[in-house]
Amino acid sequence: MSSSPPTTPTPRKAVTLARMADMRARGEKIAMLTAYDATFAALADAAGVDCLLVGDSLGMVCQGHGSTVGVSLEAMRYHTDSVARGLRRVQGSAWLIADLPFGSYQESREQALRSATVLMQAGAQMVKLEGGGWTVDTVRFLTERGIPVCAHLGFTPQTVHALGGYRVQGRDDGSAARLREDARALEEAGAALLVLEMVPAALARALSAERPRCATIGIGAGSGTAGQVLVMHDMLGIHLGRPPKFVQDFMAQAQGIEGALRAYVQAVKAGRFPDDTLHAW
Ligand code: KIV
Repeated sequence: MSSSPPTTPTPRKAVTLARMADMRARGEKIAMLTAYDATFAALADAAGVDCLLVGDSLGMVCQGHGSTVGVSLEAMRYHTDSVARGLRRVQGSAWLIADLPFGSYQESREQALRSATVLMQAGAQMVKLEGGGWTVDTVRFLTERGIPVCAHLGFTPQTVHALGGYRVQGRDDGSAARLREDARALEEAGAALLVLEMVPAALARALSAERPRCATIGIGAGSGTAGQVLVMHDMLGIHLGRPPKFVQDFMAQAQGIEGALRAYVQAVKAGRFPDDTLHAW
């Protein structure tokens, strides 16, 4: 296999927090995908993906686990390093986020800082952590120390066992109100991005409109968020079981992987993906 960089990258300036805030203000959707290795990271960057997430979904996609719970900080460091190196081989304009894995931030904010340092030194520009109110103090601690944070609410895969499976969150008034309050507190603590996973589209749209300084990135949360994220393998039609309802296979209509990645970016930017009648609750 050739290790040459992809051809014809879309020329653009580096994506930064300020540029994402500007995109949001102009109503331009943020296109995010997961990446776990150098080559796919370079392809996604060339295709114009704004943000790459080294997701702990790598536990399922790359390592064959049944959930993300078994992913270690060392595994996250290894994949973050690989993705960052892939980006440096090309124009490297995408914003790079890495997941803090299960057990690497729950103990204390100091533990979170140590774990985040490992991922930032591997090349991440932002870390993502899952959870509501109990994470607010940690988010403030990290952002005050110069570590950009992406929060993650709704269905949080690291707590799949406590949540009783892959279930839509925020369906009743009480849990919807809690999600909105958590989002407010996380924004106030400094979270610049917020992944909303598997929440009703109407709730995600309302919550997004309420949070001017924290751009929401939806996955199974409908079309009303500031951006979208999918697991790259899912949108390329590569999965071992049945894909979730919120996934679209962009390979089905594309000539190849680069074409599928570009089609995803275009569909997100044009508001064609997700389609609330197909991909949302
Ligand atoms: O780990 C991951 O890939 C994620 C996305 C699904 C948002 O957290």
